[in-house]
Amino acid sequence: MESDDFEALKRLIEKTLRIKCQNYKEAYIRRRLLSRMRSAGCESYDAYLRYLRDNPGEFELLRNALTINVTEFYRDPEVFEIVHRELFPTILKNRGRVRLWCAGCSSGEEAYTLAILLAETLGITNIRNAVIYATDIDEMVLARAKDGVYEEKALSKIPEALVRKHLTRREDGLYEVRPHLRSMIRFTRHDLMMGQPIARFLDMVSCRNVTIYFTEAQKNDLARLFHGALSPGGFYVMGKTEYLSREVDHLFKTHNSSQKVFVKND
Ligand SMILES: C[S@@+](CC[C@H](N)C(=O)[O-])C[C@H]1O[C@@H](n2cnc3c(N)ncnc32)[C@H](O)[C@@H]1O
Repeated sequence: MESDDFEALKRLIEKTLRIKCQNYKEAYIRRRLLSRMRSAGCESYDAYLRYLRDNPGEFELLRNALTINVTEFYRDPEVFEIVHRELFPTILKNRGRVRLWCAGCSSGEEAYTLAILLAETLGITNIRNAVIYATDIDEMVLARAKDGVYEEKALSKIPEALVRKHLTRREDGLYEVRPHLRSMIRFTRHDLMMGQPIARFLDMVSCRNVTIYFTEAQKNDLARLFHGALSPGGFYVMGKTEYLSREVDHLFKTHNSSQKVFVKND
């Protein structure tokens, strides 16, 4: 039966990929599975189960499909500690303002994390000195980012005092980001593969966990794009598992190698 096959697939995902399906809406899992099934030429869950058994390499593609929009507040807290303690003070000292690009922002958690840290660094009364361009190719996640409404469990990594200061609990139990955070961020649809930056003279680009489907050539083009969009001394923050290839690593100096923080070379 179709529903048994779907349950069997979920069990296999949990066991093999260690992804908890209960963390996702069922419709989301079905949509992502259907997209992989189409690519693999499978017309039923049962056929896809057999395909996975015969093609173990498919598991990694399925993992990427399931985590394509996955994000969270303070994802990898160590990197945000560096951004808060080292990068923002340096940028402010040199430029007196902060222009950031959060590229591939998904449903907004990374951009709002940066906005919280900027508000903490500048003070809420000085946030007019900061702008965050937050972009993604996917209109659906961008709509959620613009809404800025999250479940309580999504906030677990944000220190409690900062939740109280920067978000409001609504009557329905959901949390909404406060207007001062929204006022810093411009959410826009933008395709990173089009070769145009969203802005120039940027002080920092955060593009994290976005390039899983990019070819080496596309990743190199992206590094050149960010290099061109940054001001001298601007910072480039990548995801922990991402890297600069030898073709482009001369464009940046390393600021922190384990957290993948780089500085533009002129
Ligand atoms: C896994 S999420 C990462 C979100 C966030 N940066 C983080 O680290 O938590 C990857 C995001 O990249 C976006 N993305 C993928 N390809 C893109 C492209 N060509 N241009 C812009 N965004 C893209 C996806 O829509 C998705 O929302």
